[in-house]
Amino acid sequence: MNRKGIILAGGLGTRLFPLTRAISKQLLPVYDKPMVYYPLSTLMLAGIREVLIITTEQERPRFEQLLGDGSKLGMSLSYKVQSDPKGISEAFILGEEFIGNSSVTLVLGDNIFCGEGLESLLKNPELDTRGATVFAKEVAAPEKYGVVHQDENGKVIKLLEKPKEPPTNLAVTGLYFYDNDVVEIAKEVKPSHRGELEITDINNIYLEKEELHVSIFGEGVTWFDTGGFDALLEAACFVKEQQEKGFLVGAIEKIAYQNGWINHDQLQELCLSLEKSGYGHKIISL
Ligand code: G1P
Repeated sequence: MNRKGIILAGGLGTRLFPLTRAISKQLLPVYDKPMVYYPLSTLMLAGIREVLIITTEQERPRFEQLLGDGSKLGMSLSYKVQSDPKGISEAFILGEEFIGNSSVTLVLGDNIFCGEGLESLLKNPELDTRGATVFAKEVAAPEKYGVVHQDENGKVIKLLEKPKEPPTNLAVTGLYFYDNDVVEIAKEVKPSHRGELEITDINNIYLEKEELHVSIFGEGVTWFDTGGFDALLEAACFVKEQQEKGFLVGAIEKIAYQNGWINHDQLQELCLSLEKSGYGHKIISL
């Protein structure tokens, strides 16, 4: 099945002001790479080669300067402007033409996923036989996220967006797999009390149709929503630690090579241009 990817990298990043007053949150550094490398690497691990990056108008040229048309990674990258941050669900309306009749995976531009078992979870063929799949993870402060409400048998009753009194510790992460129906469903979603087209509303529509699967990440998968100062710093420290242990995180050049999208010579060339910072060397040596 043909599956396309969307990275939502719009928004004003007000929760990180003044860091993000003059630059997009998703271009900020997370240790040795710009933040957007990490969600892009997640889509690549899922085997997704065609990706739309949604940005603000002001920041679009900077994303294009960083990643280009994707050909150096053996991918196809395109760009779309979100002029007004109306909410996550708008990604499917803005991306309608790009999605065409494919299924689609959305990843939020500030979400970092890492773990040895991640790739096989994301390449699971069952993702293509279900209407929608979301991934949840146990967290200490679920009220900051979408939360999974389950009955006593563990059956999912509803997803709640930032509930004041969360019924579980299971937060819905910013990685969503949908079939093609999501485009039409997104058009039906009405703005919430905070004025946003909520992704949680889309997921609840799939749930009502009994087509939502909630997959829970175990301890082997680490997840960061880097929308706040502390998480941004913690994520950077985590990446540094992992890489010192020899496990590269978010290295899109390496994944492109491992996926067979570029050959050894193309990888060498990419790494040569990154040699001075030591980043290119890390990729080649690992
Ligand atoms: C968004 C979603 C929320 C989800 C979170 C994951 O929240 O609305 O359901 O749990 O992303 O990062 P936001 O970070 O935009 O407030």
